[in-house]
Formats: sequence, C-alpha cells, structure tokens
Amino acid sequence: ALVSLRQLLDHAAEHGYGIPAFNVNNLEQIQAIMQAAASTDSPVILQASAGARKYAGEAFLRRLVEAAIESYPDIPVCMHQDHGASPAVCQASIRSGFSSVMMDGSLMADMKTPSSYDYNVAVTRQVADMAHCVGVSVEGELGCLGSLESGQAGEEDGSGAEGVLSHEQLLTDPEQAADFVARTGVDALAIAIGTSHGAYKFTRKPTGDILAIDRIRAIHERIPNTHLVMHGSSSVPQEWLEIIRQNGGDIRETYGVPVEEICEGIKNGVRKVNIDTDIRLAMTGAIRRTMMQDTAEFDPRKFFKEATAAARQICQDRFEAFGCAGRA
Ligand code: G3H
Ligand code: 13P
Ligand code: NA
Ligand code: ZN
Repeated sequence: ALVSLRQLLDHAAEHGYGIPAFNVNNLEQIQAIMQAAASTDSPVILQASAGARKYAGEAFLRRLVEAAIESYPDIPVCMHQDHGASPAVCQASIRSGFSSVMMDGSLMADMKTPSSYDYNVAVTRQVADMAHCVGVSVEGELGCLGSLESGQAGEEDGSGAEGVLSHEQLLTDPEQAADFVARTGVDALAIAIGTSHGAYKFTRKPTGDILAIDRIRAIHERIPNTHLVMHGSSSVPQEWLEIIRQNGGDIRETYGVPVEEICEGIKNGVRKVNIDTDIRLAMTGAIRRTMMQDTAEFDPRKFFKEATAAARQICQDRFEAFGCAGRA
C-alpha cells in the first residue's frame, strides 16, 4: 500500500531504526528494491529526482511504482519526490500521486545558488500548507550539503569559491533548525552533518568521525518530533569500484560514508537515509563484468538481470544494517 513518509518515519522513530530511501529511475531499480524489501520484510521509500522524471517520464515512473505496490501488497511504500526545486515542482508531484515531497529551499530554483534563510522558510512553508491538506508529507533542507552535481565540495557548501567556510559553519545549526520547523511545519528535515552527494565524497579512507554525531544529537534533542534525513549516504563499496576498474571502467580513488557510521547516526536520531550512488556503482559493475565475461551475449536482459541482482544485494544489506528488516 502507498503510505506517507510521516507514517513510515513515525514508526521508525518509535522503534529506533532508520529507513533507506533509494533513488529510482527505471524498472530494474524498482524491482531490485522491492525484491530486497520482500526478502527482508522491510518498509520502502522510493524517491525520484528531477533527473529521474526527465529520464523515465512522469507517467512511466508513476505506473512503475503502481506496479510495485500491486506486486507486493504487503509492503508499505512511500513515493517521495527528491530535491524539489520549487513549490510548482512539488505541486506537480502531489498531483501525480507522490505521498511525500522534498522542497529543497536551501538552493534557489536553479538548484545552484545558495538561498537566503527567509526564502527557504517561505517556499517550504508554502509546500507544507499545500501538501498537508491532502495528506502528503514534506521534507525540507537546512544547511550546506555537498554539491548535487559533481558530488564534490562545491557550490552548495561554499568551499568552491575563495571564501572557504569552516567545517563548523557548514553544519546545520540546532537553534535555526528549531525555528525553521516551527515556521514551516515540515515532517522531516535534511541536515548538513558532514556528507555530500555523489561518488567522490572523501579522498582518504575514513577512520571514523566522518559524521558530526554531536550535531545530530543536538538537533534531534531540539526537534524530537521532526524526522532527521541524511543525504549523501552512499558507502561507495570498494569491491564494486574494483570490479568496475577490472572491467575497463575509470573510477579514481574515493571513499563513502561507512555503514557503521550511518548506524551511529541512526542511534542519534537519523531516520531517513538517502542512497543513490551505491546502486549506480553496483549496477555499473555488474553490467561491465557481464559484458566482459560474456562477450557473445547481446540479450540486454542478461546484463540487466545481473545489475538487478547487484542492486538488490546493496538494498538488502542496508535494510538489515539500519534495523529496518522485519518492520514492514
Ligand atoms: O540527490 C541527487 C540524487 O543522487 C539524484 O541524482 O539528479 O542525477 O537523478 P540525479
Ligand atoms: P548519494 O550520492 O550518497 O547516494 O546520495 C543520494 C542522495 O542524497 C539523494 O538525495
Ligand atoms: Na529527499
Ligand atoms: Zn540528496
């Protein structure tokens, strides 16, 4: 059944677990996530970005999610819009049947320029008023996450230009978070706690302390009824990087957020954990390997089947690690 983000995250908060929110763009990704959820008895958050809607088309995405719900009647599914650029985008997604929308007012509608706090409050408030009337949940964002485009420190985090901000200044402020929630009424809040989008998060192997755990705890204490969201939560599995490289791929040295650190975040209040890159890496690795091994093969289903299996394993591992398994 289709459920709201609020319903899923309220249950997660009550029982102290986290729910992975996987980005989806096509049939194979949706099937991989649903198979993993069925085999682990987990609730599901499927999220689609503007890029996903551009790739698949709004009608195809909507019908694929309907098919997932029809095929797995016992699994609760939230259909979430990831990084909505404006109230108009959120309104279109609500009309299309999404049960949750993210208004990312931390950036202007061009999704490149950092916004003012007042702009963020105004657009997020507008979306919350509109969404709550029809039972749709809302996620806002406060703080400077790493670049949406390159996944590297960039526009959104202020470190790309001359005026380099300190690590502390980039993190979400607990007092401002409390004010933001009071003024917007969001159900969930994406916070800046040391992560960034994409495959290139860290140039050296993390040795713990990647996440600002004290900051997560402080924000959670300040706004206990607002569910915290961690973007940029891919772990960038070194095994898949190796497989990509061994099969003609070109990926330079890079590290993600260790799963154990995410679990520490969940212990301190994180409830929704956004993952896109790990599925991309696993699918690319599986396709490259199969193409190199079976050079006479030309039935694309053979490649997609391996890609689906690889993505499914990632999803199963995250459902289990985050305490989500058995909660459907
Ligand atoms: O937050 C960004 C997600 O990874 C979606 O990426 O805009 O390329 O679909 P995308
Ligand atoms: P990753 O790039 O780390 O998978 O993050 C995805 C994300 O935050 C989508 O909103
Ligand atoms: Na989101
Ligand atoms: Zn994100």
